Parts: sequence; C-alpha cells; structure tokens
Amino acid sequence: MTVNTFRGLVALTLGATVLLAGCERPPVQSTQQGFRGTGMQQVVNPRTVAAQQAALPAVPADTPPAGPDGPKAKDVYQNVKVLGHLPVAEFNRHMNAITQWVSPEQGCNYCHTPNNFADDSVYTKVVARRMIEMTQHLNVDWKAHTGNTGVTCYTCHRGEPVPSNVWYQPLVPKGSKNTFIGNDFGQNKAMANVGLTSLPYDPSSSYLQGADEIRVNGLKALPAARGAGASIQQTEKTYALMMHMSQSLGVNCTFCHNSQSFATWVPKRVTAWHGIRMARDINTTYLEPLTSSFPANRLGPNGDVAKVNCASCHQGVNKPLGGLEMAKLYEGLSGAPKLAALPAPMVDTAGSVLYFGVGSFALAGDQAKGLEQLVSTMSQQPTATVMVSGYHSATGELASNQELAKQRAFAVRDALVAAGIPAARVKLDKPQQTEASLGGEDPAARRVEVKLQ
Ligand code: HEC
Ligand code: HEC
Ligand code: HEC
Ligand code: HEC
Repeated sequence: MTVNTFRGLVALTLGATVLLAGCERPPVQSTQQGFRGTGMQQVVNPRTVAAQQAALPAVPADTPPAGPDGPKAKDVYQNVKVLGHLPVAEFNRHMNAITQWVSPEQGCNYCHTPNNFADDSVYTKVVARRMIEMTQHLNVDWKAHTGNTGVTCYTCHRGEPVPSNVWYQPLVPKGSKNTFIGNDFGQNKAMANVGLTSLPYDPSSSYLQGADEIRVNGLKALPAARGAGASIQQTEKTYALMMHMSQSLGVNCTFCHNSQSFATWVPKRVTAWHGIRMARDINTTYLEPLTSSFPANRLGPNGDVAKVNCASCHQGVNKPLGGLEMAKLYEGLSGAPKLAALPAPMVDTAGSVLYFGVGSFALAGDQAKGLEQLVSTMSQQPTATVMVSGYHSATGELASNQELAKQRAFAVRDALVAAGIPAARVKLDKPQQTEASLGGEDPAARRVEVKLQ
C-alpha cells in the first residue's frame, strides 16, 4: 500500500464518518398508511416518537363532572350568555378549568374585575366568551375533523394567554426591485413555517383565511389554452402550504398522499381537507371580527388579529395532545347532546327493561308500569324467579356510577316486593360490566334488566 493510497483510505473513512454523522441512528419503523404498492408509508424512529410523547405538556389535573343537579347558572348569576344552561357547580368547574388552561399564573382576574364577576369591561372576558362559542362550534359542527379527541381551550393555549402557534400577515417589502430593500414577492426568505425553503412564506393568508385553489395538477393531459391550469405561483404556494401541514402534524407527505398520484383522495387527506376549511372558518367567523376587541399590542404588523393554522392545535403531533379525549368531559365546550327523553320500558314475556334519568335511581312514571305484566306472570307461575341487573351510562366517575347501578337494581326489587312478590323470588345479579359500551350519556344505558327464569 503506498502512502498515497493509505492517505486516500484515511480520507475516505473520515469522509464517510462525517457524512454518516448527519444520519439518524437506527432503528427505523415504517407503518403502512394506504393501499399496498402506493408507497404510503409513515417512516418514524421509535426513539424520536418516544421523545415527542415525553415532550407533550402535562395536562392540568381534571375534576370529575359535577352532575346535572342544582340551579342553572343563568338563574343564579347576572351576566351569563353562553354557559347559562350549566348547573352552577358545573359552571364553576368550567371556570376553574378555563383558568388552568388559559391563565394559570394570572388566575381568575385575567378575565374578571375583582369582586364583580358579572362585569364585562376587561377585554379578555369578551374574547373568552367568543372563544367558548368557537370551541363549541369546533366540537359540534366540525366533528368530521375534530373527532372524539375534540378541542378544549388547552388544545391551543397550553397554559398561555396567547397561544404559541398563531400567525399574522407578514410585512412584505413593497419597494421596487431596484431599491435596496427590494420586493421579495413574498418568497425566497427561508422561513421556518415553510420548512426553511425558498417557497412563498405566507400560504396562510391565501388558504387558511382566503379560499384560493390548492391545486397543482390540471384535469387535462395538456393545457388547453395559455394560462389554463395552475400557475407556477399557485404551485409554489400549494407546496408551501403542504410544508406547513407536514411540519405541523410531524408527518411526511405520504401520511396524506399516494406519492405516485398526489391528486388521489385517501382518508387522511380527506380529514386534512376538512381541517383547511375549519381553520378558514374560525379565522374569518370568530377571530377576524374580534380584531377591534384586542388592544393594539396584540395585533400584527399589518394591524390584523392573531389567527390559527394547523400548528395551533396540532403542535407537531398528528392528533393534538396525542389524541387525549378531554373535550367530552366538558359539556359546556363539547355541547353534549341535550338529554334525550327516556325510551318506553321494554316489556315482553321473558322480562322487562326499565330506564332511569341521569344520576337517578327513581323508578318513575311510565317506567314503573313496565313491571305490571311481569308481576301478573309471576303471580300465575308461583315457582318463577327473576334476575335483576342494574347498569349505568359511560359518563362520570366509575365508582359512583356502579353504586348508582346497584341502587337502580334495588329500586326495581323493592317495587316488585311492594307489588306482592316474595323477596326470595327476586335475585340480584351484578353484571360483569355495569358500564354501557355506548359512548356518552345515552339514555338506553341507564337501565335495569329483569329476566324471568
Ligand atoms: C379566560 C377568561 C376567564 C377566566 C380566567 C375566568 N373566567 Fe369567569 N367568566 C368568563 C366568561 C367569558 C364569563 C361569561 C360566560 C358566559 O357568558 O356564558 C364568565 C363568567 C363568570 C361568572 C358569572 C358572573 C355573573 O354574575 O355573570 C362567575 C361567577 C365566574 N366567571 C367566576 C370565575 C372564577 C371564580 C374564576 C377563577 C377560578 C374565573 N371565573 C375565571 C371568563 C373567565
Ligand atoms: C383553535 C385555537 C384556540 C382555541 C381552541 C381557543 N383559543 Fe383563545 N385564542 C386563540 C387565538 C389565536 C387568540 C389570539 C391571540 C392573542 O391574544 O393575540 C386567542 C386569544 C384568547 C384570549 C385573549 C388573550 C390575550 O391576552 O390577549 C383569551 C382570554 C382566550 N383566547 C380564551 C380562550 C378560552 C377561554 C378558550 C376555551 C373556551 C379558548 N381561548 C380556546 C386561539 C384559541
Ligand atoms: C395532513 C395531510 C397532508 C400532508 C401531510 C400533505 N398534503 Fe398535500 N394535500 C393535502 C390536501 C387536503 C390537499 C388538497 C387541498 C384542497 O383541495 O383544498 C393536498 C393537495 C396537494 C397537491 C395538489 C394536488 C392536486 O390535485 O393538484 C400536491 C401536489 C400536494 N398536496 C403535495 C404534497 C407534498 C409534496 C407534501 C409533503 C411536503 C404534502 N402534499 C403533504 C393534504 C396533505
Ligand atoms: C382547532 C384545532 C385543530 C386545527 C386548527 C386543526 N386540526 Fe387537525 N385535528 C384536530 C383534532 C382534535 C384531531 C383528532 C381527531 C380524531 O380524534 O379523530 C385532528 C386530526 C387531524 C388529522 C387525522 C390524524 C390521524 O392520525 O388520523 C389530520 C390529517 C389533520 N388533523 C390535519 C389537519 C390540517 C392539515 C390542519 C390545518 C389545515 C389541521 N388539522 C388543523 C384539531 C385541529
């Protein structure tokens, strides 16, 4: 080996080491996202994912819902316009949670005048009231996007009065090309929000506030006329938005696209499509009209209000806060469906199913009548016995719900005994699972099943 070859080898080894130092250390995992052969793979390093999970902010401790009893906030307080339907205890629980989510350091007085909670003179209270309506709208009307994870104030605010991921229209130098400042036509700046590329740095104004077309592909093989199809500007802006979306969700393009045909629709892309319309909707319907409520120091360089983009909620994760389902615990924000009337009791020759109100074990009205046929059958068949099992809905604390299910079963047993059936012929049977597999406050879940044996 000549000295030169040796030097060459050393240089090669060093060079390779330097090059490889830029690579990520294995392992690498890839998860299939779409149909086979479409290359829709999400490539992740489990170590990076674990670090991301660990970096998710701790969610403030939660108190269980206070329950439906007691007077309503609108009857007790003076100036409640949005959350008046909540019982007072539940209203107060919402106020505590909002404080934890938005202004934990500043406390209640971030929005309230001390000693006069009804006063609306602090601007933050006016903004917060509209934010409550916005959050309800996000959970109810945009469920196609927000799903079961849902949205609370914490999704965007994370313990800060001003969320850390918001955007303003940037100041674009409007000078002529020949002046020192020049005119960059809104691009070539290597901005972080478009992945440090030279792409246009403000896709949000066009797509998340305005409704410009997000298109690259034409519908025909060849342009039919000059100027038909997407322009280079439109193409670049589309890619700029795509960079923002990928970054905000911490995913690559193949999370939403079949990269052999970017124009194909696949499920995640459909969810993202709704996300774009949703961001537009809340920016134009809720945030823009609030501009005059904010003090000047909260507005951007062009005097516009702070607005949301994909990162406001997602913050680098494909489902905000790792998909933690917080919103459903806050009726005032998730707009839990108005409580439906109880179904009629189910009566057949093999037994009955009787229904109960929220948090109640009173066998009332029509439901009590659901036992009549059973009582007459049992009187005719002196050896027949019944099995009584109580159930509860999926909302609320499990331990107190199980107690509720038991009390419901007792109420039915007592009604049978009161109707003349000997207690020995009524057996209580605790089901393996007392909780309904149905989500939320479904009236069909709050029931007692009575089976004839
Ligand atoms: C981020 C802003 C914000 C914070 C922080 C906040 N509130 Fe409120 N509060 C509101 C809004 C908005 C309303 C009006 C709700 C409505 O119209 O439905 C309200 C209304 C009230 C009312 C009803 C007053 C009346 O008579 O009309 C009470 C009581 C109240 N809050 C107590 C509290 C307490 C106690 C805290 C601290 C634990 C607190 N709030 C923290 C925004 C806030
Ligand atoms: C989709 C994201 C999002 C959600 C959800 C959200 N906010 Fe906001 N919030 C914003 C943005 C954007 C601003 C404007 C930032 C600023 O103040 O300049 C803002 C501003 C505020 C401000 C004014 C803060 C200040 O100091 O200027 C208050 C108060 C507030 N929000 C309360 C709430 C409450 C209460 C909820 C839940 C009911 C909530 N927000 C939910 C995005 C959100
Ligand atoms: C979170 C999902 C998501 C990610 C990630 C994503 N896209 Fe998209 N992409 C969409 C949606 C949704 C549209 C259509 C928008 C509309 O129609 O309003 C789209 C449109 C496009 C189009 C236009 C297709 C046509 O029909 O003309 C191209 C090209 C494209 N994306 C490329 C990319 C590239 C390159 C990346 C990675 C840097 C990427 N996308 C990342 C969701 C995504
Ligand atoms: C107001 C908050 C909010 C904003 C703003 C938002 N998202 Fe989402 N997004 C959510 C929530 C919540 C979910 C979880 C839904 C669920 O549980 O199924 C979600 C889910 C998604 C998913 C599906 C992820 C998965 O793993 O199934 C995609 C894709 C997505 N969002 C794209 C976007 C894009 C692109 C934008 C910006 C144009 C955006 N989102 C803006 C709240 C938001």
